Amino acid sequence: MWKKLICALVLAAFLGLQTVNGLYCYTCDSPSSCRSPTSQYCNVQTANTTSDWLRRLHSNVPKTVSNSFECLNLTYYYPQNNVITQEILGCYFSSISVCYLFRNENNSYDWDKSCYFCGYDNCNHRNPAGTLSKSSFTIISSAWLLILAKIFI
Ligand SMILES: *[C@@H]1O[C@H](CO)[C@@H](O)[C@H](O)[C@H]1NC(C)=O
Ligand SMILES: *[C@@H]1O[C@H](CO)[C@@H](O)[C@H](O)[C@H]1NC(C)=O
Ligand SMILES: *[C@@H]1O[C@H](CO)[C@@H](O)[C@H](O)[C@H]1NC(C)=O
Repeated sequence: MWKKLICALVLAAFLGLQTVNGLYCYTCDSPSSCRSPTSQYCNVQTANTTSDWLRRLHSNVPKTVSNSFECLNLTYYYPQNNVITQEILGCYFSSISVCYLFRNENNSYDWDKSCYFCGYDNCNHRNPAGTLSKSSFTIISSAWLLILAKIFI
């Protein structure tokens, strides 16, 4: 019984670590580079880079550093024709209110904004690849749950 319990705890801890660690986000910092964004692992460096990109367009990006990350897609575009003028995708420190930053003088008020953030792998891209990685993650989680159930039943 104790063996089974310890085994289950180890597996549960591993499953928990898998959920907390290892977020990937699509990353790019201009309309042209965002045509083929690369997927980057979230860590202090990649999120810090996103903060730098946000500072080009906003005046009040906090100097936050933490270990909690989410994925961002922030775009500015002309409302008349939907042409995107600024586009930032990437990992960011989730404590930053990333969709509510003040615009600086680089950021024209003629532009409309679209902004969303999310918390699973590569979710900040309209490409179906993001959906795929979410469902494969669900399959992996389900597999672990099955193994856990097997140990106890
Ligand atoms: C984050 O970026 C700023 C400015 O680019 C730099 O001064 C700072 O050392 C960086 N912090 C980390 C933890 O990389
Ligand atoms: C405006 O953008 C340029 C080029 O990215 C940058 O060098 C400059 O620091 C920005 N201005 C402000 C106020 O952040
Ligand atoms: C980011 O979001 C905007 C607005 O929803 C969308 O037009 C753009 O294609 C997105 N960027 C990527 C790389 O998916």
